[in-house]
Amino acid sequence: MKALIVQEHGALEKLSLGDFPDPSPGKGEVLVDVHAASVNFPDLLVIGGTYQNLPPRPFVPGKDLAGVVAAVGEGVTRVKVGDRVLAQIEHGAFAERAVVREVLCFVMPAKMSFADGAAMGLVYLTAHNAIVERAAMKAGETVLVTGAAGGVGLACVQLAKALGATVVAAVSSEEKARLVRDNGADHVVRTDVPDLRESFRNQVFEAVGKRGIDLVLENVGGDVFDASLRVMAWCGRLVIIGFAGGRIPDVKAGYLLVKNISLIGLQSSDYRERTPEVVRKAYERLFALYEQGKLQPRVMARYPMQDYVAALQTVKDRKVLGKVVITMPV
Ligand SMILES: NC(=O)c1ccc[n+]([C@@H]2O[C@H](COP(=O)([O-])OP(=O)(O)OC[C@H]3O[C@@H](n4cnc5c(N)ncnc54)[C@H](OP(=O)(O)O)[C@@H]3O)[C@@H](O)[C@H]2O)c1
Repeated sequence: MKALIVQEHGALEKLSLGDFPDPSPGKGEVLVDVHAASVNFPDLLVIGGTYQNLPPRPFVPGKDLAGVVAAVGEGVTRVKVGDRVLAQIEHGAFAERAVVREVLCFVMPAKMSFADGAAMGLVYLTAHNAIVERAAMKAGETVLVTGAAGGVGLACVQLAKALGATVVAAVSSEEKARLVRDNGADHVVRTDVPDLRESFRNQVFEAVGKRGIDLVLENVGGDVFDASLRVMAWCGRLVIIGFAGGRIPDVKAGYLLVKNISLIGLQSSDYRERTPEVVRKAYERLFALYEQGKLQPRVMARYPMQDYVAALQTVKDRKVLGKVVITMPV
């Protein structure tokens, strides 16, 4: 089969499109003919060799896919050959075929396209884990989403809004501001401003009042994380989702003490490995909200597999609006 292959970690140019051995499903596994796979920021870290979880080389990267079940291994009962499914794996999605665990393979709603299915994977699961599992968000709370026009960010905006929050979205451009407004954000604050530390607080307080933010969903790290800590309400929670900006922040514990702030970590893949039943319940809920029109993955572009560099570069260059999808077969 054709696949994107990491022979050596490094720049995107080191990745190649070539032949890779066809996988076959073992016990409890499902073989999927992949029609679409979406790009996630962590794919760049995996390809670059800086991600926390790296497979032995050569390997096929990619964590989100949608396609048609081609074969099932022993003991598989929840999906059958011909089902349209989306699935998540640690790596292997950027290929014409992939083997996934049955427990992480979900039959898609009939009206969902393969591109939407691939875009509804890791980012929506991460949003659900952050908002529901880690933060136990309540309707009526004020929620700040940083990096809000990216994949995880936009999923957080849509889901928090669907579950009854007042959503403040932080973005770095007017184009991104329009996107988050169109996707349900009640207020938009900008991070491309001089003196972010002071300006961010002024913008957020102007939007929601000086009481501040009950829940921060933080995707960016660095100065945006630091500024976000200063807008939190008494007993606020901040879920650490990622560091797309590159700097992992340090935190002064005294600051957490005086404002009763909770910092909460999240690694979505742990839920896949440790509690797949929680993931299954999350997808039942996400699909129901999708069918009600409350969630809608936003696919900004679809690239055929041979144009993989352009697809990955869009995310690397911070230009992604929602999600970018790679389509198969070649
Ligand atoms: N914890 C988990 O389990 C988990 C799961 C999936 C992803 N993640 C993490 O969550 C974060 C978001 O992932 P994603 O797939 O949604 O990424 P994405 O689509 O590329 O969005 C990232 C956003 O971060 C902002 N950003 C700031 N500085 C950036 C830079 N130097 N390069 C790229 N983006 C920058 C951008 O918004 P502005 O331009 O508006 O600032 C961008 O929209 C990443 O850190 C990723 O590693 C964590």
